Amino acid sequence: MQIAMIGTGYVGLVSGACFSEFGVNVTCVDNDESKIQRLLRGEMPIYEPGLDGLVASNVKAERLRFTTDLKSAVREANAVFIAVGTPSRRGDGHADLTYVYAAAREIAEALNGYTVVVTKSTVPVGTGDEIEKIIREVRPDADFDVVSNPEFLREGSAINDFMRPDRVVIGTESERAQEIMRQLYRVLYLIETPILFTSRTTSELTKYAANAFLAVKITFINEVADLCDRIGADVHDVARGIGLDGRIGRKFLHAGPGYGGSCFPKDTLAMVRTAQTAGSPMRIVETVIDINNRRKADMAERIIAACGGSVEGKTIAVLGLTFKPNTDDMRDSPSLDIVPALQKAGAVVKAFDPEGMNEAKQMLTGVSWCDTAYETMDGADAVAILTEWNEFRALNLNRVKELLKRPVMIDLRNIYKPQEMAAAGFHYTSIGRPSYEPKLEEAMV
Ligand code: UGA
Repeated sequence: MQIAMIGTGYVGLVSGACFSEFGVNVTCVDNDESKIQRLLRGEMPIYEPGLDGLVASNVKAERLRFTTDLKSAVREANAVFIAVGTPSRRGDGHADLTYVYAAAREIAEALNGYTVVVTKSTVPVGTGDEIEKIIREVRPDADFDVVSNPEFLREGSAINDFMRPDRVVIGTESERAQEIMRQLYRVLYLIETPILFTSRTTSELTKYAANAFLAVKITFINEVADLCDRIGADVHDVARGIGLDGRIGRKFLHAGPGYGGSCFPKDTLAMVRTAQTAGSPMRIVETVIDINNRRKADMAERIIAACGGSVEGKTIAVLGLTFKPNTDDMRDSPSLDIVPALQKAGAVVKAFDPEGMNEAKQMLTGVSWCDTAYETMDGADAVAILTEWNEFRALNLNRVKELLKRPVMIDLRNIYKPQEMAAAGFHYTSIGRPSYEPKLEEAMV
């Protein structure tokens, strides 16, 4: 089996490397020459645990190649995956399909023998039909099928998600295409992964419905957390109490500063637009988007409240900037709302992130950048944890107290226990859990 993966962004690179690990011959294509050169030198354009090793071993085994030559990659392929970006279109929230359609045109020119054209990028319902139309127009003689095969990878655990998925969704009614897809995912058949064959439209919708549902789930628990704060209940126990019900499930019930990243914000918006256009609005998703946007903005207020109602002239140490740990991705990260809001309220912000500093420096201004968590806290009036990186879970609390001017911690990811923090003498604020008075009498804000 030979495939071409068009686009070496997050989805394309991870999927390409994983397919090659399955024994498929993969050619990854990108029109960015410098990116291809870097990949050929073994440099990864993104931070994803395990990806560099996987790429290196499959390049060495000659199952994985990188090129800018789309035409020859497509000519040799049994299946061509479109994994180019689909950003939110400026102004209206619809997914921008410019790159997808441009790729479809180029692919069409090079098709050679029966080929399956697969959309891996997250694309709105109906995109497969449009791709089919484009290819037909460019090459009326071509023998092909267009298939939807959405990805459900999470940044930071993408390789495991690809190798051991909960399910694979394949949207096509063509038996020839189904057979090729079956062969590509043969390894997953062997480990009895559920593989769902459905129509292309259903498959496209399934991807949006999955992300929108997860966004609803997170937003639900975030609102429960706010209620817990008001009435003195504990959101962790509520999440466990409801999550143990198999119908609800325990995952994605972790309260925090609001979801971010390159998928949920963009995909919820695209789903809402699709639903409105179809005359069947998704009011629950519309509400979730609104709540999540407000939540991110409100987080700075919580930090300010924990600092005694004002941060004017105070120094706030921010630990974690990426939208979640194990990634360098800053897209739609809550930190992009929180840090500027703190600065606007008069705070000096010092910040550190284990992998996201390069990205963060391009998106945030006026921040005093630090090289370690402890350097960040040195001389600060309070510390705010924005991302739950493992290295922030086990800080030396005595050292933290010595470094901070006041022992004030705002933990937006609930990685510490309120009672233990109080016992350690901290004025500790978290999300949706009762706080305790610190044991030691500390100078307060
Ligand atoms: C998400 C989905 O989980 C993947 O299945 C999907 O393939 C991907 O989008 C995509 O469409 O490409 P990802 O954006 O990498 O993956 O990250 P998640 O782990 O889902 O986290 C998203 C956001 O939700 C983060 O900001 C995270 O902090 C937040 N979150 C997640 C919570 O606040 N609470 C939770 O319980 C879980």
